[in-house]
Amino acid sequence: MRWVLAVVVALGCASCERNEAQGGPSTGSGTSRTDETAKEQERFDKERKPEKVVEALGIKPGSRVADIGAGSGLLTVHLARAVKPNGKVVATDIDQQVLDLMYARLSAAGLADLVERRVVGADSPDLEEGQYDAILLAEVDHYFSDPIAWLHDATKALRPGGRIVISNRLHRRTKSMATAEKAGLVLKGEPSAVDTHFIAVFVAPPGKDP
Ligand SMILES: C[S@@+](CC[C@H](N)C(=O)[O-])C[C@H]1O[C@@H](n2cnc3c(N)ncnc32)[C@H](O)[C@@H]1O
Repeated sequence: MRWVLAVVVALGCASCERNEAQGGPSTGSGTSRTDETAKEQERFDKERKPEKVVEALGIKPGSRVADIGAGSGLLTVHLARAVKPNGKVVATDIDQQVLDLMYARLSAAGLADLVERRVVGADSPDLEEGQYDAILLAEVDHYFSDPIAWLHDATKALRPGGRIVISNRLHRRTKSMATAEKAGLVLKGEPSAVDTHFIAVFVAPPGKDP
C-alpha cells in the first residue's frame, strides 16, 4: 500500500511546477492531485492545529529545529515556514520512503531548501550535539524501544534554553509524561491540547542545560 501511495505522489509531483501553473493534473475524478494534497493538508491542519505546535516549540526565523519521525511532512511544512528564510529543519525518520513523500510535499510548497531529510536508526536521535533550539516528537515516542535512553541522548543536542516538545494522542499522555520525567526532563508547560492530542513542552534538567 505504501509503495502505491509513493508512486502516486511521486508521479503527481514529478511535474509539480508545470501542473500547478495549469491547476494540477487530473486524477480522473475531476480533482487534481494538487487539490488532493491541499485537502489532505487542510484536514490534517484542522485536526492537529500545527500553529499550536509551532508556538510550543518557540521557533522563529533562523531557528534550527529537529522533527523526529517526521513522516510525510504534514507538520514539517509548518516548521519550515516558521524558521524561514535562514533557519533549518532536520526531519528524521527510519523510513526513506516517507521522507521521499515529504520531499514532494516540500517541493510543491517551495520549502525543500529549508529541510534536511535524515534517515536514522530506530534507537538513536542522530542529532548533532548542542545545535538545536527545539526538538519535536509528534506521534513517535511510543515507537522507541528505550524512550528514556533516547530522550537522554536527544537532550545533548539542545542549545542552551532549547526545548523538547512531545505531542501524541491523548491516550498516550500518561506514559509519555512519565517517561519524560524519568529521563530527567523538566515540564515547562502544557498548552491547551487540541481535541485529539496533548502538547507538552520540556527543557533540560538544571545543571544539564547544555
Ligand atoms: C504516526 S507517524 C507521525 C508523523 C508525524 N510526526 C505526525 O505527527 O503526523 C510516525 C512516524 O515515525 C517514524 N518512526 C517510527 N519509529 C521511529 C524512530 N525510532 N525514529 C524516528 N522515526 C521513527 C515512522 O516511520 C513514521 O513515519
